[in-house]
Amino acid sequence: MKLIVANWKSNKNRSEVEHWMDKYEEKLVGSDMSLVDSKLSKEVEVVIAPPMPSLMFVSNRLLNPALKSFTKLGVQDISPYPAGKYTGGVSAYNLQGFNVKYAIVGHSERRRYFRETSQMVAQKVDQCLDNDITPIICVDTPYLLEQLKAISPQSYSKCVVAYEPLEAIGSGQSDDPKHVKTIVERIKKLMPKTRVIYGGSATPKNVNSYLEVSDGVLVGEASLDVGEFVNLVMLCNI
Ligand code: PGA
Repeated sequence: MKLIVANWKSNKNRSEVEHWMDKYEEKLVGSDMSLVDSKLSKEVEVVIAPPMPSLMFVSNRLLNPALKSFTKLGVQDISPYPAGKYTGGVSAYNLQGFNVKYAIVGHSERRRYFRETSQMVAQKVDQCLDNDITPIICVDTPYLLEQLKAISPQSYSKCVVAYEPLEAIGSGQSDDPKHVKTIVERIKKLMPKTRVIYGGSATPKNVNSYLEVSDGVLVGEASLDVGEFVNLVMLCNI
């Protein structure tokens, strides 16, 4: 089962989210159900990670059984702390009841702009796992092994790792699939039961080259336009 994660980052207001979800449903559920049934629910798991204020809206839209079968809800970040006196932090506990299945943690933009350390990322992983949320841990070269060392080995099999080379993110310069293959193998050597996905300028055109060498893709820019994202999902040749 391949994982395709849409990371909208800090884009989209409420009406733009509504438009995206309307079109997503129309294009995937309203069209060829046999395709959705056979391909999507069995071979692909799509994750939508909206900005936090739209979480409840997207969560409600994903109650539609036809969408729910292959589309899950994710968040882009989570507090490293549990429920309690941590003003402004959204704890994993706060997310209970919203059907959040995945949380992206340690994205390079969080490490860079919010000064997140690998230690904080490890705390986030623990918070996710305590609340039945699968963490998608983002790592980049050259610090990949140091970033992963902070994670407790007992957690490895319950996590997803996203390899996201810094120079490929949002640049249109996606990494060479052969290089991605090498990195995925390196991560899997350390964490054999962990799903490893790739992120960085993934598009409908190049998605299959990454699916051949990894367990999925984390998609930023190409997930913002619903038509482009649906194309990417439908073109997955798995
Ligand atoms: P991008 O972003 O697809 O726009 O490169 C990927 C990411 O940052 O997760």
